Amino acid sequence: MTAQYQVHGDVAVITLNNPPVNGLGLATRIGITDGLASAAADPAVKAIIITGAGKAFSGGADIKEFGSPKSLQEPNLLSVILALEASTKPVVAAVHSVAMGGGLELALGCHYRIAAPGCNVALPEVKLGLIPGAGGTQRLPRVLGVEVALNMIVSGEPQKSELLASLPGQKLFDRMAASVESLAEEALAFARSVADTRPLPLVRNMPCKHPQGDAYFQFARNMVGGMSKNFPAPLKCVEAVEAATKQKFDVGMVTERDLFINLMWTPECKALRHLFLAERATSKIPDVPADTPQRTIASVAVIGAGTMGGGISMSFLNAGIPVRILEMKQEALDRGIATIRKNYESQVKRGKLTQDKYDKRMALLSTTLDYTDLKDADLVIEAVFEDMGVKEKVFRQLDATMKPGAILASNTSTLDVDRIASFTSRPQDVIGTHFFSPANVMRLLEVVRGAKTGKDVLATVMALGKKIRKTCVVSGVCDGFIGNRMIEQYSRQAGFLLDEGCTPAQVDKAIEKFGFAMGPFRMGDLAGNDIGWAIRKRRAVERADMKYSKTADLLCELGRYGQKTNAGWYDYVPGKRDAIPSELVVKMIEDHRKSLGITPRKISDEEIVQRLVFSLVNEAAYILEEGIASKASDIDMVYITGYGFPMFRGGPMCYADQVGLFNVVQAMNRFATNPLDDGAFWKPAPLITRLVAEGKTFN
Ligand code: NAI
Repeated sequence: MTAQYQVHGDVAVITLNNPPVNGLGLATRIGITDGLASAAADPAVKAIIITGAGKAFSGGADIKEFGSPKSLQEPNLLSVILALEASTKPVVAAVHSVAMGGGLELALGCHYRIAAPGCNVALPEVKLGLIPGAGGTQRLPRVLGVEVALNMIVSGEPQKSELLASLPGQKLFDRMAASVESLAEEALAFARSVADTRPLPLVRNMPCKHPQGDAYFQFARNMVGGMSKNFPAPLKCVEAVEAATKQKFDVGMVTERDLFINLMWTPECKALRHLFLAERATSKIPDVPADTPQRTIASVAVIGAGTMGGGISMSFLNAGIPVRILEMKQEALDRGIATIRKNYESQVKRGKLTQDKYDKRMALLSTTLDYTDLKDADLVIEAVFEDMGVKEKVFRQLDATMKPGAILASNTSTLDVDRIASFTSRPQDVIGTHFFSPANVMRLLEVVRGAKTGKDVLATVMALGKKIRKTCVVSGVCDGFIGNRMIEQYSRQAGFLLDEGCTPAQVDKAIEKFGFAMGPFRMGDLAGNDIGWAIRKRRAVERADMKYSKTADLLCELGRYGQKTNAGWYDYVPGKRDAIPSELVVKMIEDHRKSLGITPRKISDEEIVQRLVFSLVNEAAYILEEGIASKASDIDMVYITGYGFPMFRGGPMCYADQVGLFNVVQAMNRFATNPLDDGAFWKPAPLITRLVAEGKTFN
């Protein structure tokens, strides 16, 4: 039973009970209308309460029914709300903890609302590329005023019940309970107090006006439009709320419905809904059940206080987990700690962190030069130089010192985690934790599962990653794991495009217009072009058959490593990050082209984007087929959270599905005929060919 019905004297209580957040799935909706019918038929019942069991009133739509016909099956949410409004006995919503989306819309359909403090109240549909679709845009402005309601609808952000209840003139909550614990009792008393009051108040009958309507909505459109380019939903939120102020209630409801349905079919909405589910799916590992036992991680050690070691340490400190950092020399430790301090201090200065929290975090941090001080840590993460010899020494040392059962993790970005595990006598305890830079900021954490990594170790690290607020994606062992293995193909294409006639700025602009946060050349300058150079040198030995453009090497030979040298693909003014096109680099590319005897051609933005994005897709198809990633949606999450792929396109795999894999293959076949490109690479991966033949998609 996902909704229970009980009668307490003269009050009927309908309790939503569909864990974890009382999603309004079909069975729950039927439970509500059945409860209303029972209450109507029972002469002893004078009033009705709707509340939620467990940790929520209701979080809204049931994600298990997302986009399925069940979500629309009668009684759909609109019909349930109509039934609430039609009840001849007063209905009181007793909300607590979470009242979001459809859950809040349900409460707005009730005659009265009583709330516990601390309840998160939101209409978050905009985050899925939608607007609220069950009257939220028409009812919320009537109880909170147009401006407050529009801010909530456009941002999708939750507000606390006590804050909303304190707004002058608000009609969202008729009463605040003293606490979550007393809510049930207070709701009963309140329901009895209004049992005989008539007429029954309905939100739909309340007025909805803004004193400077036209000017305000023009202002809102300008603001929202400027902030939400590429996302159609926020402007539609404005349109729907404006309709609430200008149309009769029932006409406004039709406007809301039309806008909602039109958004539902946009590629942006499909992409955002895909990502919502993809994020939740990352923690599902086919052969590691959810109830896999986990190890306790109460303390963490980090080896290396450099760029990554510092950021990784901060991620744990932020979550209240004590960290001890080990370095070889005191100076390196001092430098690392100073950087952490500086980072936190700038957060304090900008008002992002309180002094108290800063002090608490620093108190959790300790340092050492001696491995024996680490032996009791539950997890150790190595972040030393990217060199197998150095890693070997560190892991042999860890094997000799760490207590049994400690998890030994490496932050390597390219090296073989299985080899690293082989340096220890406990490969089942070894795992890769590939953080992205800056590690305290970037959401992505690739969790690299070695051939012998224990399932409990994997489950533990995945759960811990969530605790430090990362999006964890499991990757098998291969050169570059999921993200960097794909980016290599993307970078190769970027290089070929220069050889064939593009400038760095042209390539960057095209892909940034597509929606990437940063094009490949601005990205290279930010990360340091020398890093890729070092990797290419290593690969030149390991994979001598791989074809590369030489331009990136020529650039590095000039010492143009990027922002850190104030010169890379672009020029930089010291202290500033603006990328200024460099005549010298353009000349270098032209000279190189000449030396190869290439006549430059004009390359369209469309070709640039397709070659860059489809190179990701083709490599990803191999990654899927080899089982390095267990599902296409994991690859999308890697690219969205770690590589600045545009969210509104849903990730490379989602995008390829939307373009149509048949069309993707056509483009690849075309690129394969270009003698200056790598024809062999463009042979579509067998998985893609198979999916096209079967008329299927990645996701
Ligand atoms: P870094 O050069 O900034 O820091 C490395 C630190 O390790 C230095 O402070 C050094 O003194 C220390 N160290 C070296 N050998 C040591 C040893 N035997 N014992 C103790 N400390 C030792 O390097 P970064 O960038 O922090 O990289 C560290 C690891 O993280 C590498 O494996 C790298 O591939 C990986 N990584 C780097 C990313 C980046 O963007 N920088 C991104 C993801 C992974």
